[in-house]
Amino acid sequence: MHNTVLLEEAIKYLNLKKDSIVVDCTLGYGGHSSLILKNIPDGFLYAFDQDKIAIENADKRLKKIGSNYEIIYTNFENLKKEIKVTPNAILFDLGVSSPQLDEAERGFSFHKDAPLDMRMDLNNPLTAYEIVNNYSYEKLVKIFYKYGEEKYAPSIAKKIIQNRPVKTTLELAEIIKESVPEKYRKKSHPARKVFQAIRIEVNNELGVFEKALTDALDIISVGGRICVITFHSLEDRICKHIFKEVSTLPKELADKPVIPEEFLPKYKVVANIVPKDEEIKENNRARSARMRVIERVR
Ligand SMILES: C[S@@+](CC[C@H](N)C(=O)[O-])C[C@H]1O[C@@H](n2cnc3c(N)ncnc32)[C@H](O)[C@@H]1O
Repeated sequence: MHNTVLLEEAIKYLNLKKDSIVVDCTLGYGGHSSLILKNIPDGFLYAFDQDKIAIENADKRLKKIGSNYEIIYTNFENLKKEIKVTPNAILFDLGVSSPQLDEAERGFSFHKDAPLDMRMDLNNPLTAYEIVNNYSYEKLVKIFYKYGEEKYAPSIAKKIIQNRPVKTTLELAEIIKESVPEKYRKKSHPARKVFQAIRIEVNNELGVFEKALTDALDIISVGGRICVITFHSLEDRICKHIFKEVSTLPKELADKPVIPEEFLPKYKVVANIVPKDEEIKENNRARSARMRVIERVR
């Protein structure tokens, strides 16, 4: 099962009332959603996920708690299209769930041999195989730099192209290992960053997150909160910039003695926290997590 990260903290900061309308954009195995549902007996939960297997499991779990929820099987980039009410709380717990990583055949893990896939949504036509075997050298280098922050991007891309067709995760992990200097291999697994980059490209993770977060800010109620849990700096940077932009005065107005109300920020940043040491000890996935919270004030 998935070991939910920052569970108590997310529930606390979502500031739930008995009748809150809540959107969980990343249902996963229902860790957060179960506790949300317990806290809103007179409210309603809408939960998104693009992974059918996760939804089936979470649905069984939520059914035991109540019936005041709806699971929406689609990408959370459709948030605004699907949610026609004004939510009081919205949660994003980004990335992949532990079962997605553990199910070897999904191709997310560089430790388990599987065909190159990495799709969260199995209807997505773009797979890791397509990227690894058909992207140009320039395109591979760009995504390894941009989404993996991998400094050996050019040598890795070159070696991948020399070894095409690359069919499985372990073949790819071995090629990456051979493309980087010996001492670099010791730090962390050399395939980690490139696998992250390919996963982000397959699922267009940063693009959809940026759109959905902007839409979430638009639809949240006055007094409502948005909690975002991220697992790497690229996602966190997007969240930090968007939150900063909407919660600060435009530069031109910063030193003016009187500011017309319509120019005052509509949002205030409430929290920026990381998991406690005890949680990190118990759950390795928590080590890179960070939660940012924003509230709509007008
Ligand atoms: C980290 S897990 C969420 C775990 C959940 N909070 C729990 O406690 O069980 C992230 C989930 O979000 C889903 N997901 C990621 N990006 C998505 C997107 N753009 N649209 C819909 N679901 C997405 C994944 O399929 C995965 O099940």
